[in-house]
Amino acid sequence: MIYKTNTCALYGIEGHVIEVEADLSNGLPGFDIVGLPDAAVRESRERVRAAIKNSDFLFPQKRITINLAPADIRKEGSIFDLAIAAGILRASMYILNEALEGFAFLGELSLNGSVKGIKGVLPMCLSLKEKGLRKLILSCDNADEAALVNDMEIYPVENIMDMVDFLNGKKVIKPHKVDLEGILKNNSTEEYDFADVRGQNTAKRALEIAAAGAHNVIMLGPPGSGKTMLARRLPSILPDMTFEESLEVTKIYSIAGLLKDKLYLVTRRPFRSPHHTMSAGSLIGGGRVPHPGEVSLSHYGVLFLDEMPEFSKNVLEVLRQPLEDECVTISRVGGTITFPAKLMLVSSINPCPCGYYGDASGRCNCNPAQIKNYLGRISGPLLDRIDLHIEVPPVGFNDISCSAAEESSAAMKSRINKARKRQLERYEKDGIYFNSQLKPKQIPAYCTIGKKEKELLKNAFERFNLSARAYNRILKVARTIADLEGSENIKTDNIAEAIQYRSLDRKYTL
Ligand SMILES: Nc1ncnc2c1ncn2[C@@H]1O[C@H](COP(=O)(O)OP(=O)(O)OP(=O)(O)O)[C@@H](O)[C@H]1O
Ligand SMILES: [Mg+2]
Ligand SMILES: [Zn+2]
Repeated sequence: MIYKTNTCALYGIEGHVIEVEADLSNGLPGFDIVGLPDAAVRESRERVRAAIKNSDFLFPQKRITINLAPADIRKEGSIFDLAIAAGILRASMYILNEALEGFAFLGELSLNGSVKGIKGVLPMCLSLKEKGLRKLILSCDNADEAALVNDMEIYPVENIMDMVDFLNGKKVIKPHKVDLEGILKNNSTEEYDFADVRGQNTAKRALEIAAAGAHNVIMLGPPGSGKTMLARRLPSILPDMTFEESLEVTKIYSIAGLLKDKLYLVTRRPFRSPHHTMSAGSLIGGGRVPHPGEVSLSHYGVLFLDEMPEFSKNVLEVLRQPLEDECVTISRVGGTITFPAKLMLVSSINPCPCGYYGDASGRCNCNPAQIKNYLGRISGPLLDRIDLHIEVPPVGFNDISCSAAEESSAAMKSRINKARKRQLERYEKDGIYFNSQLKPKQIPAYCTIGKKEKELLKNAFERFNLSARAYNRILKVARTIADLEGSENIKTDNIAEAIQYRSLDRKYTL
């Protein structure tokens, strides 16, 4: 007689339902797990055996075969322990007839029989629901995260004794619930506010545009001009997340094991600021059990590369692909997996190695070759994926000493939220969320311009010797500026402003 239970495996950010078949037969006592298990799954044998024994059950002295189906899905980690134990306990009649029906199990076992939390519960829970498995038994540590999925009955258990008593009807466990509305309200305040930044109105305006349309930006300015200060304040103006965005980002954080106490739904856009010694591997992710890299952890949020030329050339080159494709593909034995990576790149750079090129004091001694070499670390194709070039000059005395109140982040954010809403509505049928995602073939439809605007663009091209590649960038940014104004039409002013943000095209030929 074969007894079946259900569990789930992770593949990228998607879950796959796995059927666990348990067979007990007479013969030499033994315990085998088949169905392409990796080393961690094989270790699960020892954990399950010890957990059952140490929970006052008798481990069956029979020939036990566990099959994890389908066999062609690669199975990793320790998530199947609980399902395997449930199968064996059912087969040895500790769990009564039909008690397992409709249930799925997720969890790792300790040798003493307690159930431990695992990573990636949210995506797995979503897949189980899709397959009609609405009842889930898992560790108390994972209960809040799993309860984010509506229409699921979540039963948290401390140990396998609890599980058996619950399934046999001897113990009552109420389905676990969380206050989803409370979590979504997210009243937390940001640490930094744009009101702290004196002057710098051009830079603030450019960052407002960038946040509204999720445009990639590069900030160019001498040391101490406030580039890092400005970037750190971006989270306070990023538009609110939609529930779909939250869920998708939470899936990634769940797999990365980054959902900490009380934060089981990511409701604020990520802001990642990796150090410049970071490797290409931690940027894009990977590994034997694939984990998402910084680009995926920045999904629907910001990846901030401060002092971009300090990053290794290899890291910067690797960044091109996710910026283009909005996802990363990791090849590995048994196929490729994809992690989403729709991020907004924010970077900063000094104008030369010493930082003071163009400074009125004339203290820069860098020669043209040094400057070229320094800026050249950011390759043309990478720079080409950046929509806005923001010049951040040192703040003047009048600005820094002025006592007038600066505009708050909250005021900026309310305009940005409105502009983002326009985009969400406009692109509802296109499967995109914001202007920076517009593909070249969508641009004529959504960024239509009149004769006057075209003329202006043509002049700018000739005068500033802009590359043809800059054309689409200018139109997309102009689209966002019009959205901030609440206008469907792109006007001359919008185009003129967008052209201002291509200063690196004009200044340097990298
Ligand atoms: N506009 C400003 N208003 C108020 N304070 C400012 C402003 N600009 C700079 N500062 C002050 O100067 C400090 C240095 O700024 P920040 O570190 O952001 O400069 P940076 O451009 O990142 O320099 P570097 O290129 O050396 O990294 C800030 O922490 C802040 O205290
Ligand atoms: Mg800095
Ligand atoms: Zn210099």
